[in-house]
Amino acid sequence: MNQSVQTHTKRLAEIASLDIGKARALPMSMYNDPALFDAEMESIFRTGWICVGRLEQVEKPGDWFTIEIAGEPIVVVRGMDKKLRALSSVCRHRYFTVAEGKGHSTRFTCPYHLWTYELDGRLRGAPHMEDVCDHEGEPVRLPEFNLDTWLGFIFVSLSTSPSPLVDSVAGAEAYWQNYDISTWKVSPWVDEVWPGNWKLAMETALEGYHVTGLHPGTIDTFMPSRSARFQASAADWTLFRLDTVYDGSFSSLRAYADRMPEGEDRTSAPQFGFFPNCAVSCSQMSSIWLTFLPLDASLTRVIGGNLVPPDLHAHFEIHEKERLANADAVNAVNAQDARAMVNLQKNVRSRFAEPGLLSEKERNLLCFYRYLSRQLGSNRTNENFSKKGA
Ligand code: FES
Ligand SMILES: [Fe+2]
Repeated sequence: MNQSVQTHTKRLAEIASLDIGKARALPMSMYNDPALFDAEMESIFRTGWICVGRLEQVEKPGDWFTIEIAGEPIVVVRGMDKKLRALSSVCRHRYFTVAEGKGHSTRFTCPYHLWTYELDGRLRGAPHMEDVCDHEGEPVRLPEFNLDTWLGFIFVSLSTSPSPLVDSVAGAEAYWQNYDISTWKVSPWVDEVWPGNWKLAMETALEGYHVTGLHPGTIDTFMPSRSARFQASAADWTLFRLDTVYDGSFSSLRAYADRMPEGEDRTSAPQFGFFPNCAVSCSQMSSIWLTFLPLDASLTRVIGGNLVPPDLHAHFEIHEKERLANADAVNAVNAQDARAMVNLQKNVRSRFAEPGLLSEKERNLLCFYRYLSRQLGSNRTNENFSKKGA
């Protein structure tokens, strides 16, 4: 293991062994070290389940969208057999990308020399060539990765033998029982690049301590920091809650809170973090889902959107002005969170940036650090996923 990665891993293990009251933030050097970034890609992003999208993106046979995990280009596609697959989108001829962006088609055609693939990944034809086969003489096909779904979210794992997704999310479903979130739809979508390390974005999403500071006039108005409290955690997820106070200009949201059964979901809302890089922050009428996809040590693609109940989504379809106002509000909140990342990343060069004590309201960060310590400490490496389905 690289010397700096060893140092970071040791420091992480020390922080992870402490409890709140003693535990401190991560050293700034962990947010811009290319060697640590490579280790994270290998031990975390090439082994775990990564939330990449929603089922509504691939409802019909022929629907597809693309994504990159740890530099691996992937196309998520609903085949003509209706099966959902995650395929490598790297052409088996000379590596051109066979699908980019999103679309609807009956096959993929590589733009370079026009090799064509069925939506299940099988090579359909190669112009001016016959009997194209791979090194073992087998038919050529795009490698297939593991894919699973949960609550309408699509997860992909680059590992050939990931632990079942259902094990990763075990225990979390109880907190979703009053949310029919698998039926919720996205409006608006989010797809941005933020100039900072992926962990900084995830950390901001994992605590409500910052809400009053960073979100004046938006979230703070109805979910203030003072109510932020740790609720639960497991190996691969963590949860805190914020009280929902709908009065003043947000009194119309009260109707959605009143749909909830008596109990904590009527007066407060769960804020989930799914390790390594997905956060789903709820109120009773909407949820901001964000996945932070690392591009390099100081650059992160942020995808996701604002999930809303079907009736509100239908309302937005008809009332353009309200749809745009909601989009403005969501974008304003995201800009406020992006501001934290930009600011923190700038300070990684400061010689006086010392890790400070974590607050009790940041207990979920400690859960995240323990997860990172387990993953990096276990020194897991990627299995030979390229063989799957090849
Ligand atoms: S690289 Fe795709 S057809 Fe040549
Ligand atoms: Fe925030």
